Amino acid sequence: MSARPAHLVPSILSANFGCLERDLRAAVAAGADRFQVDIMDGHFVPNISMGPMFVAAARAHIGALPLEAHLMVSRPEQWIEPVRAAGADLIIVHAEATCHLHSLLRHIASSGARPAVALNPASPLALIEEVLDQVAMVLLMTVEPGFGGQQFIEPVLAKIRRLRQTLLERHLDCDIEVDGGVEASTIARARQAGANVFVAGSSVFAHPQGIAQGLALLRSSVGPE
Ligand code: DX5
Repeated sequence: MSARPAHLVPSILSANFGCLERDLRAAVAAGADRFQVDIMDGHFVPNISMGPMFVAAARAHIGALPLEAHLMVSRPEQWIEPVRAAGADLIIVHAEATCHLHSLLRHIASSGARPAVALNPASPLALIEEVLDQVAMVLLMTVEPGFGGQQFIEPVLAKIRRLRQTLLERHLDCDIEVDGGVEASTIARARQAGANVFVAGSSVFAHPQGIAQGLALLRSSVGPE
């Protein structure tokens, strides 16, 4: 269990792109803590989504709330400045997408954004053990990246527990974010395992009773602060 406050992060990938302002403002009004823009290049993941211009578009409708850019791209180093300039406060890069993770995280920090690192479900924590003191957050993917609406991959819960234990032992002030298949039936178990930041796309923007109900259900399901 993480004693850190729980943050709900709607993933804009599942929003209605034709009514982006409407959806984002509804999520802000319903208590979203921050937002995530999923940037995909069709190479690192089998989908093409959105780029820095979309970061700027989202930035315009979320007030002062933080905006994360999740880079699911093969050459993350070329997107740090454009994404930062577009308004990203936190930039997430995949350990699997670079041979130079230490300098890539330094690059993000020097841009003025907070650095974060992501691991795909099958990637071991060993890939990031040497950089845990360089990041504000670790994103442990609970689906294979590329698409919303997938099933939560349960074995990642054990990885979350191991990472939270490591962070505690090393006295590192670092959030653990989960992303993919986060909904009422999975969010509490992810929090129990040690995650404290929860990305949710379809359970918010595609909730049958609407965005506000989707966020309210996640907030009530995540458990006590
Ligand atoms: C998947 C994206 C996720 C996705 C989450 O590659 O990184 O952020 O949008 O969508 P749901 O919450 O529907 O699994």
